[in-house]
Amino acid sequence: MLTEILPINENSLRLSKEIILRGGAVAIPTETVYGLGANALDGGAVKRVFEIKGRPNDNPLIVHVHKEYDISGLVSYIPQYAKRLAERFQPGPLTMVYKSKGAVCPEVSCGLDTVAVRVPSHAGAQAFLKYIDLPIAAPSANLSKHVSPVTAEHVFADLNGKIELILDGGKCSGGIESTVLDCTGEIPAILRSGLVTREMIAEVAGDCIEYVPAEGERVRSPGMKYSHYCPNCASVLFDGKEEAVRYYNECEKKGVKAFIMCDDETAKTLNVERILNLGATENEIASNLYFKLREGEEKAQAIIAIAPRNQSGIMAGVMNRLERACKKQ
Ligand code: TXA
Ligand code: MG
Repeated sequence: MLTEILPINENSLRLSKEIILRGGAVAIPTETVYGLGANALDGGAVKRVFEIKGRPNDNPLIVHVHKEYDISGLVSYIPQYAKRLAERFQPGPLTMVYKSKGAVCPEVSCGLDTVAVRVPSHAGAQAFLKYIDLPIAAPSANLSKHVSPVTAEHVFADLNGKIELILDGGKCSGGIESTVLDCTGEIPAILRSGLVTREMIAEVAGDCIEYVPAEGERVRSPGMKYSHYCPNCASVLFDGKEEAVRYYNECEKKGVKAFIMCDDETAKTLNVERILNLGATENEIASNLYFKLREGEEKAQAIIAIAPRNQSGIMAGVMNRLERACKKQ
């Protein structure tokens, strides 16, 4: 199959619609990462998305809708706090999990009685969703376990020959996936951290907890149990820069081409030749994380990441991805 990359316009939107209506999948940009979208009402189409990615079939997908879409046909109950959160953070990088009405096909939520809903703010994603006017199930458009894609070229590198069309909306600004929030209980619970932080949610909802599965409990967000975001080269994570530099120097001695990945402030203090600089602000760091992991796997035999000092707010999301992408030392 030939994989085309097209800019988003009337022509490519029409082609997208044709593909989606015949049960295919289209890669689309969002403000977080690229997604691989298929009709959430078509079980066969959703199954194919799992196959294309090599995704375990118990890890549910997020349903994406445009901002005028009425989700009351998809979800059975929306608590008051969730209405306020949706009002404040959707469109945007917040995915909300509700009790499902059973309208989307069971393959989307892998048999769970809930459904995750996201309204992306990216203009290209909105244009696509509005044009199709269907709920679209979309995981990140990478091969399962690999680093999520933040450019059309990243999607192409993973899915060339497996899908017909990638809509090119440039580099994703957010850079890490949406916050996934369980809104089925009395208090909202974060299942996956992201750019909408616990503090931001608590301010609107009154309270917010971080879900930690109890020993032996069936995990509420199955994605949590799988390895994720792994570059195709060795990758290690250190808490402090001294240990990281020591490891870098050991690599040098062995002839292993290593790069240190860290924020701009740390980069300025390092006396090493090869650095993957994530940038200065928290938003820059999140935005560059996957981009630099992908750049790293192209250039390096080993990526040596240094954990950010501050690990709250947005950096909680960054740290969560780093811990999954790299082997903790
Ligand atoms: O930013 C994003 O969320 C991106 C873009 C494309 O929108 N999508 C994304 O999808 O990251 P994916 O499939 O890579 O991750 C979906 C996450 C998984 O951790 C999954 O377990 C969780 O959402 N999830 C989906 N439906 C769920 C449900 N009904 N209950 C609990 N967790 C759910
Ligand atoms: Mg993913």
